[in-house]
Amino acid sequence: MADTEALLADAVGARHVLTGADIPAEYAGDESLAATRQAPAYLARPATAAEVADVLRIAGKAGIPVTARGSGTGMSGGCVPRPGGITVSFERMNRIVEVDAVNHVAVVQPGVTLDALDRQTAEHGLCYPVRLGEPTASVGGTIATNAGGMYAVRHGVTRHHVLGVEAVLASGEVVRTGGKYIKTSTGYDLTQLLVGSEGTLALVTEATLRLRPRAGHTTTVLAAFTSPEDAFRAVPPLAAEGLDPAAVEYVDLLAMAAITEDQDMGLGIPDSVRRDALAYLLVVLENHSARRLEEDVETAGGQLLDLGAADVFVLPTAAARKLTEARERAFWTAKAAGADDIVDIVVPRGELHGLLAAAHAAAEYTGSLVTGCGHAGDGNVHLSVFQPDPIRREEVLRRLFRAGLARGGTVSGEHGIGRAKKPYFLNLAGPVKVELMRRIKHAFDPGGILNPDVLFD
Ligand code: MLT
Ligand code: ZN
Repeated sequence: MADTEALLADAVGARHVLTGADIPAEYAGDESLAATRQAPAYLARPATAAEVADVLRIAGKAGIPVTARGSGTGMSGGCVPRPGGITVSFERMNRIVEVDAVNHVAVVQPGVTLDALDRQTAEHGLCYPVRLGEPTASVGGTIATNAGGMYAVRHGVTRHHVLGVEAVLASGEVVRTGGKYIKTSTGYDLTQLLVGSEGTLALVTEATLRLRPRAGHTTTVLAAFTSPEDAFRAVPPLAAEGLDPAAVEYVDLLAMAAITEDQDMGLGIPDSVRRDALAYLLVVLENHSARRLEEDVETAGGQLLDLGAADVFVLPTAAARKLTEARERAFWTAKAAGADDIVDIVVPRGELHGLLAAAHAAAEYTGSLVTGCGHAGDGNVHLSVFQPDPIRREEVLRRLFRAGLARGGTVSGEHGIGRAKKPYFLNLAGPVKVELMRRIKHAFDPGGILNPDVLFD
């Protein structure tokens, strides 16, 4: 232990190595409701890729597991350390190296937060369109999980915006992939292999990100439905109309009551509509032209009514902001209400109504409450599961994941597998796929030091 501590201190500076009880409690995990927290033996805070490489060489020689950590806002236990392990925190590698306004690209270190990147890109009239409910998430963490968020339906997810990375391999070698270009037809796409690999293949020390012009005008339309079925059935036709909504969020009755409980949002929903509404769609439209946006809002409103909405409201700017922020805090609201777990299953959006019917059946069978909201536009739902009994909870989760898979979906749309969803992933992913992933893992990390408990047993 003393040896490793001294070696790490040589690598990153004694001030940036903590051990044992000196390590603050937050480093034991992330925001996952299900993953068991575990303190690391060492916390190293490198400042450069060369220092990260030194740390990995030390870990490799001693066979010590390494867990990378950004802001710790993950939701699947992806940055929970191993007992005796080293946590590499990227908090000091938080520099925006460059915003290249000509090529619409930003080059950033992994510890840069999404809100810091947003502030800086805004100065150039640009944005990084991966906007999450959690703006303190780090770019490195979002790359590790391939985070998505509310606006993926129009703009895509993290992987659609990572053009290249610099990464340190388990061996301590540094690799550069991709660059400031969108096209590449040059062998295996290592950038995309690393996106979503949850710290199991290499540690990203710099990322080249694709930016977009910032939307000039935004309007939010709220549609109330008396049947959740109708709300889900409205999603595919809405997208088919060429409106290209920036977000189509689904909020069920309970989630709506919970997120709007604390304040008067000024949504303007009459009591008569609210009484009968069982589900809501929140549709965000954006455009560079105010006139075109107005036309789109008109079209969307009419279409939502045609598709069975009981009423449609064009929200005043302040109300739209408050409701969006409340929706973004939905996880915290669910957590405060005592949710025991949260899943983020994704299915083809045309299958959402079937998934929700299966979720209700699973809830009834196990005597659980399953409620929530989600990114209906891209088929990714966040279901809060209230079931304190661990055996029944496992049963309801297994039924939910099976229902998702049966409808052509998968276990996690954006939060990652981490530790929390690992048993379900290993059980449901299919042995050929898991074995191929293991072989890829072995090629990158033959000693198995990188986040060994994540994805695999
Ligand atoms: C969100 O969409 O708010 C986040 O993914 C967190 C969640 O609700 O699970
Ligand atoms: Zn989400």
